[in-house]
Amino acid sequence: MSQQKVAIVTGGSLGIGAAVVRRLARDGYAVTLDYHTHSDAANTIAQEIASQGGQALVVQADVSRVADIANLVAQTVARFGRLDLLVNNAGIEQRMAFLETTESAFDQQIAVDLKGPYFAAQAAARQMVAQGGGGCIINVSSVHEDVPMVGNAVYCAAKGGLRMLTRTLANELSALGIRIVNIGPGAVATPINAATLADPAKVQALLAEIPLDRIGQPDDIANAVAWLASDQASYITGTTLFVDGGLMVYAGSL
Ligand SMILES: NC(=O)c1ccc[n+]([C@@H]2O[C@H](COP(=O)([O-])OP(=O)(O)OC[C@H]3O[C@@H](n4cnc5c(N)ncnc54)[C@H](O)[C@@H]3O)[C@@H](O)[C@H]2O)c1
Repeated sequence: MSQQKVAIVTGGSLGIGAAVVRRLARDGYAVTLDYHTHSDAANTIAQEIASQGGQALVVQADVSRVADIANLVAQTVARFGRLDLLVNNAGIEQRMAFLETTESAFDQQIAVDLKGPYFAAQAAARQMVAQGGGGCIINVSSVHEDVPMVGNAVYCAAKGGLRMLTRTLANELSALGIRIVNIGPGAVATPINAATLADPAKVQALLAEIPLDRIGQPDDIANAVAWLASDQASYITGTTLFVDGGLMVYAGSL
């Protein structure tokens, strides 16, 4: 029997991250589920996975803190012996007008959305090299790594940074057998955009710009993660797969 693969999913207790954790566990991965604040939700998912015969480890880690990231990887290796896949999913979106953006708000968002993935990728890659090379890093980015959004400049800058990070690291990591890929979700029904989804007028406006005419579901992203992490995607690195119902290519009304 081949060796069980091991994954870490950051921000794995809610939304997209929770769907990714469940999907990877179903696919046979031993999964470390990182949470920031929602320990109950994290433990519930881990128990669910265990009751289905899978393996899940719950670790609290704030991805904006490099020491927490080191502990996340160390605990994963102590429990499961290796690391094959990192999913940098944790993220925050704090919309604010450019003229009102404070230094602390800027620092916090960049720390979670860009610094976190950077140092988590570094810690994961170091472990992958130490165990002989190979592995995969998937960053959950956004259509806003490419599409500007008024009133959301810091988020766009962070996700744009993630785009260049992935394109650059693909060059450095390929010699080590490690692939790195971004997934760019469009509008997905999760707590991060609960306010928008609770407003029927905003939902209608959003749907008008989504050619496939529906809001995405967390499983749409989890399906993409599962495929990109698999050997079927072994020739893919340094790029972004947009999973957005066509939002990126919306051409306006005819
Ligand atoms: N939902 C969407 O429409 C959408 C669209 C594009 C991109 N994304 C991206 O998808 C990712 C997941 O977002 P979501 O929609 O599931 O949102 P969410 O708010 O449901 O989940 C975000 C997760 O990140 C965790 N998190 C926040 N700060 C953290 C920190 N400092 N350390 C560790 N974990 C932290 C939260 O606890 C939560 O579990 C994010 O990177 C987000 O930018 C979401």
